[in-house]
Amino acid sequence: MVKITIGRHEGDRRWYDTFEVEEKPGMTLLEALFYIQERLDGGLCFRYSCRGAVCGSCAMLINRRPGLACRTQLSDVKGEVINEAHRDQILLKKAPLDANKEEVIVEPLPNLKVIKDLVVDMEHFYMLLDAVKPWINIPDDRSHEENIIDPHLQMQIERYTNCILCATCHGSCPAAARNSNYMGPAALAKAWRFYLDPRSNKEDLAELLTTIDSKEGIWGCDVVYNCVNVCPRKVPPTTAILKFRDVLKKE
Ligand code: FES
Repeated sequence: MVKITIGRHEGDRRWYDTFEVEEKPGMTLLEALFYIQERLDGGLCFRYSCRGAVCGSCAMLINRRPGLACRTQLSDVKGEVINEAHRDQILLKKAPLDANKEEVIVEPLPNLKVIKDLVVDMEHFYMLLDAVKPWINIPDDRSHEENIIDPHLQMQIERYTNCILCATCHGSCPAAARNSNYMGPAALAKAWRFYLDPRSNKEDLAELLTTIDSKEGIWGCDVVYNCVNVCPRKVPPTTAILKFRDVLKKE
């Protein structure tokens, strides 16, 4: 049996519940949450969709580190010794934690409002994303043109298109914890993806650089690489932010 302690939220009430789950070989944390919901507490709320690390819905704090429940093997995280240095960087809440127990601690993603239990409100995250206008405006008279992209450039862009908008980066970000208006790693990584794209037009790129050139934008980053370390798709937002800083310093 594995003990799973879950940070519960309902309205203004916050508390922790511990459940015992019968572990099966290859069981993921998401499957363990289903076990709890189906057999022990039907009121437990969590979000999921694809169950295959594609939709980004099941992001949560797992032993104080943001991650995807569907991609986390229970055997990898039970009784895990928490890295104290890392915990200091990203831990935003205090909760019972005993690393010696065969236990997993699961909590909602930080830096976003909690709706219930492990479900956070993604509205703010999407609003920050919208601020960088993550799309390409192609004039109607050019919409049927073929766009051939250099394969080397395409590989650079692809590092950023891999983002699944799970918000694990946002949940690990100390700048987002301090300032809710900080655009955050996901939006700035997305901005870099469109900055690199040769189909983006000059006017839109000039507007983009103005949008991100502030303490709420690229200058707000602490450059601690939490976002890079937790991203399940290996997107490197800090690299994008530093590249943007180089671009703006040269202007
Ligand atoms: S359920 Fe889709 S990423 Fe986990």
